Amino acid sequence: MTSAVQQRSAAELFAQALRYENRADPYPLYEQLLQEPVVRLTDGSWLATGHREIGLLLRDPRISADRLNPQQQPIRKSLLIADPPRHDQLRQAVTRQFVPRIMGMRDHIDGLVTSLLDAHTSETPGELDVVGDLAYPLPVTIICELLGVPREDERLFGSLARRLTRGLDPVETQTEEDIHQLQQTRVELAEYLEGLIARHDADGGGDLLAGLMNDQSPDGPMDAIDLRVTLGLLLIAGHETTVNLIANGTLALLRNPGLLARLRNDPDLVTPLVEEVLRHDPPVQMSGRSTLADIDIAGTTIPKGARIRLLLAAGNRDPRRFADPGSFLPDRADNAHLGFGGGIHYCIGAALARAEAQIALTALARRLDSPRLVADPPPYRENAILRGPERLPVAFARLLPDPREQ
Ligand code: HEM
Repeated sequence: MTSAVQQRSAAELFAQALRYENRADPYPLYEQLLQEPVVRLTDGSWLATGHREIGLLLRDPRISADRLNPQQQPIRKSLLIADPPRHDQLRQAVTRQFVPRIMGMRDHIDGLVTSLLDAHTSETPGELDVVGDLAYPLPVTIICELLGVPREDERLFGSLARRLTRGLDPVETQTEEDIHQLQQTRVELAEYLEGLIARHDADGGGDLLAGLMNDQSPDGPMDAIDLRVTLGLLLIAGHETTVNLIANGTLALLRNPGLLARLRNDPDLVTPLVEEVLRHDPPVQMSGRSTLADIDIAGTTIPKGARIRLLLAAGNRDPRRFADPGSFLPDRADNAHLGFGGGIHYCIGAALARAEAQIALTALARRLDSPRLVADPPPYRENAILRGPERLPVAFARLLPDPREQ
């Protein structure tokens, strides 16, 4: 049982971790929070930071993925916050369309990375904003192609996605005005997606949206609302997460001397390296759940009906699970990080995100001659949950030609 003093200090540490001034490095605060793997906060919600405890909670059928306050509830839940059996039906429908379409995409991703970098060949010396020039346009282009969403609409839905992800942040970090704007944004996104679905050619193209519209499974195709909600989830997930994996990976490469040269000499290093970014500096810092029953865990009882915050990024630095958790060590033998969550809601886009990040980081290592961070830390986006740099200027001596083409 945690004492009132422990509750207050955990609540204060957590509030500090959410403050923008700690966005570039919330990890020392997480380290302190890790002293108590599960703790009740003063607002009545619970905070889980331990790797083992988060893993158990993610897999416990007495837990619901619905983490929203009653005033935040949407008309229809997306699969992210739905529970079985509805969750499983929606997830299977998406997986059926998603998995075959992302297989064999590596060459296409590679070509896109090359053309995004080639735009900078004339600059000697030059500067690249790794976020604006590569980490953002890459996943956005891919997700638009995959779903069948016109890339030219990006200006509209990019800003909607951006505003919506702020709404994922804990309510206490949002003003009345933010919450009002969020409702407005939800309506705008719904209108945009409805128009898109209505105009969409279900017979042509072979994209994922057409696939969902024509789904021939025994459950039949999704109804119009599920289609819209699922499309919105995929569009936002494809927009606002991988960008941070590529940016955080670039930071790790440029902050750890010798790593860049190692990656140039040993391209296979990129696979464990991206896993270590997902552990050490994960794009999704936190998730949430609620309890459907009393749950005994870590010597305490979370009562039925409680809201739980799962601080994935803290679990990834749990010294009970990982040796030397604060160090970036791509050679870790056993890197069971929580970067993509776990259990039945494990990220559907994991394979795509991994492929994009591996290809982008390999290309940066190969092609940037003498890169260095212009500002360290870089300016961060406001978001606490989908956390990452706003911009990531990197100066370089020369953009080298792709060695595979020489
Ligand atoms: C680096 C990139 C990404 C990271 C770190 C990430 C992380 C996560 C995490 C932590 C969850 C679990 C959330 C929870 O349990 O509450 C999740 C779920 C999900 N992700 Fe990702 N994601 C990434 C990219 C993507 C992409 C590219 C897509 C699709 C285009 C995607 C689609 C989804 C979906 C649909 C879910 C919900 C799955 C379910 O509820 O069953 N993600 N992701």
